[in-house]
Amino acid sequence: EKAGFDHFMLKEIHEQPKAYRDTMGSRLSADGRSVVLNELNMSKEDIQAISRIHIVACGTAYHAGLIGKNVIEKLARIPVETDVASEYRYRTPIITKDTLVIVVSQSGETADTLAALREAKRCGARVLAITNVVGSSAAREADDVITTWAGPEIAVASTKAYTSQLIAFYLLGLYLAQTLGTVSADEIAETIAGLRKLPEQVEAILKDSSAIESYAKQIAEHEDLFFIGRGLDYAVALEGSLKLKEISYIHSEAYAAGELKHGTLALIEEGIPVIALAIQSDLFEKTVSNIKEVKARGANVFGIAAEGEEELAKSVDQVFYVPKTLDLLSPALSVVPLQLLSYYASLALGHDVDKPRNLAKSVTVE
Ligand code: F6R
Repeated sequence: EKAGFDHFMLKEIHEQPKAYRDTMGSRLSADGRSVVLNELNMSKEDIQAISRIHIVACGTAYHAGLIGKNVIEKLARIPVETDVASEYRYRTPIITKDTLVIVVSQSGETADTLAALREAKRCGARVLAITNVVGSSAAREADDVITTWAGPEIAVASTKAYTSQLIAFYLLGLYLAQTLGTVSADEIAETIAGLRKLPEQVEAILKDSSAIESYAKQIAEHEDLFFIGRGLDYAVALEGSLKLKEISYIHSEAYAAGELKHGTLALIEEGIPVIALAIQSDLFEKTVSNIKEVKARGANVFGIAAEGEEELAKSVDQVFYVPKTLDLLSPALSVVPLQLLSYYASLALGHDVDKPRNLAKSVTVE
């Protein structure tokens, strides 16, 4: 049932190209110029009436929601807030009839996420669920559903469900943009072309994970480390840090690279591992200057960059390249080495990769 892999997590990491293809599936028009989301019951007028969007989720799904905020705001120019579901209801959020609340849940059964969904409906908002389980509570109770076709996820640590949620956000962002006319037809076509390339680009990353494996053995000897990045890279850093904590039990913190010098830089000392994401081309130079700040204080920096950014090698101790894509789509590639890093670190430490201590796959208590 593990199809020749040692653990479900590794199998599921390797299933991502298929999960991307299945989630995009028939939702991209044959001519590659538009997104088709027939499952949405929203008319053009309904979409035009949306004045704000709230994305609500827990854990890894929340991290997908942080990227979703970025994608929707960039493409559709609708203001978006992303909230942790266990916090959302208690901060008296402003939920009006023209608010679209998007709940993101692999299982569709997470207690806090369902409570947020019900609160949103009680306030008269329209609710869209992004879920991996057809017929789940979230799918049944929401007004609209986008199913992520990742297939069953057995490992407690979410991998292919997260990346499929990213694909769902790209599709939704493009769909809203093409409906509202906020992005040119050519830019939509260019983004769709980028989406279509992602599965083979993930396959290319998965072909050789030996550099990640050997770096995982190095970090397994440390008790603390940092992930840094800006923008979308920061959102991916948060997910990489959660994954590492969850299955390797190594403490780590993800930091917005430009924020380090406002306090956290005090923790950077000789030899501390820092995993630096510098994928987005528009933020590359800014991130490199933050990398230099930690290098100057003795950090051991593992850089992750897009192919073609060869000069990063001069500023870091080791570098891992991911294939080049549009900045907006880069999280769907850059998270893969981080998933592998946490997997191999957990393995090196002899932990139960698929069933980490204290955790359950589906959290049905608040
Ligand atoms: C981490 C992980 C959790 C879940 C969270 C929400 O790897 O899997 O953080 O993402 O418990 O679960 P769902 O998506 O089922 O609502």
